[in-house]
Order: sequence, then C-alpha cells, then structure tokens
Amino acid sequence: MKNINPVISKMKINEIDEIMNMQLINNNIILSKSSILNDFESSNAIYFVAKLNNIIIGYIAANLLYDHIDILSVLVSNEYVKNGIASTLLSAVLNYAININISEILLEVRLTNIPAQRLYEKFGFNKINIRKKYYQDNLEDAIIYKLSLQNNINL
Ligand SMILES: CC(C)(COP(=O)(O)OP(=O)(O)OC[C@H]1O[C@@H](n2cnc3c(N)ncnc32)[C@H](O)[C@@H]1OP(=O)(O)O)[C@@H](O)C(=O)NCCC(=O)NCCS
Repeated sequence: MKNINPVISKMKINEIDEIMNMQLINNNIILSKSSILNDFESSNAIYFVAKLNNIIIGYIAANLLYDHIDILSVLVSNEYVKNGIASTLLSAVLNYAININISEILLEVRLTNIPAQRLYEKFGFNKINIRKKYYQDNLEDAIIYKLSLQNNINL
C-alpha cells in the first residue's frame, strides 16, 4: 500500500478523452465515448474522477435512474490498484446518493471479477440475482448486487 491521496472531483465533460485514454492504457475499455456522452446529455450522470498531480488515475461511473442509482463501472489505473482508490470513489457515489435521498444502489459484476466483487461486498452490497450470459463479448454471467443505504450510514 502506497501513501496516495488522490483528489476526488465530479468528472467534467472535457475530461472524457482522458478517461478514454486511461481505459485504453489499462487495456480495459468498459465504457464507450458515446455512452458517456449520452449519460452527460441526459444529466443523469454521476461520475467522479480521482486525480494525482492533476492526472486521472481512477474513475467511477454511475447513473441516477428514477428512484435508484446504477453503478456502471469503476476503474483504477493498474499501477495504483490496492491503495483504496476505488473505495474512495465508491464512497463519493454513496455519499452523493445519501445527499439526494437515494437509498438503493444497483450494479452488475462479471462472475469472474473477484476483486470487484470483494470491493462491493466490503461496502455491504448483497448478491440479489444472476443474469445468465449477460456480457455480449464472452457470454459471461453477471451477478447483480444491491445496497440499501439506510442500513449503511457509516461510510
Ligand atoms: C476492482 C478495482 C476497481 C479495485 O480498485 P482498487 O483501488 O484496487 O480497490 P481498493 O484498493 O479500494 O480495494 C477495496 C477492496 O476491494 C477488494 N480488492 C481490491 N483488489 C482486489 C484483488 N486484486 N483481489 C481481491 N480483492 C480485491 C478488497 O476487498 C479491498 O479491500 P482491502 O484492501 O481491505 O482488502 C480495480 O482492481 C480495477 O480497476 N479493476 C479493473 C476494472 C474493473 O474490474 N472494474 C469493476 C467492474 S466495472
């Protein structure tokens, strides 16, 4: 564990190319540019970035959908993983949810993505369902996780 204290801020639309570049460098294209643009246009986007020396080293993407928040992805640059950065980003979304009185958070994780599952379970997310062959690239199953925030006020 390094002593890293990134600055967390709401993502700005002009940071989209840096996000795309970060996904490319880390060989993990989770979100397309068009899907990010769509989220920002619909003003449902709840995106936070983690910056070190003004460079984005992590992001979390979520959407406000009526009565709940859907977390789309969280990515931390390979060289900075396991330093609590995803946890800090996730806390930012959960605090945001509390501030706007949203208590239900949902997300999907690949069946084989153990680090992400551990991350979400650490925050109290519970498995509620499996979507068979959900991911189109390799037909991997998705685990659906849910967090009810009224039971988790100590972030
Ligand atoms: C999953 C990911 C976001 C975790 O980011 P991170 O900044 O390393 O996570 P944190 O340091 O905040 O770790 C929080 C918890 O997650 C779990 N975790 C993180 N990395 C892990 C690993 N490699 N193996 C097992 N558990 C892991 C642990 O429970 C950890 O808590 P601990 O430090 O008390 O053990 C990061 O590995 C990543 O970017 N992966 C690629 C993208 C991805 O799969 N995103 C999620 C799906 S969209």
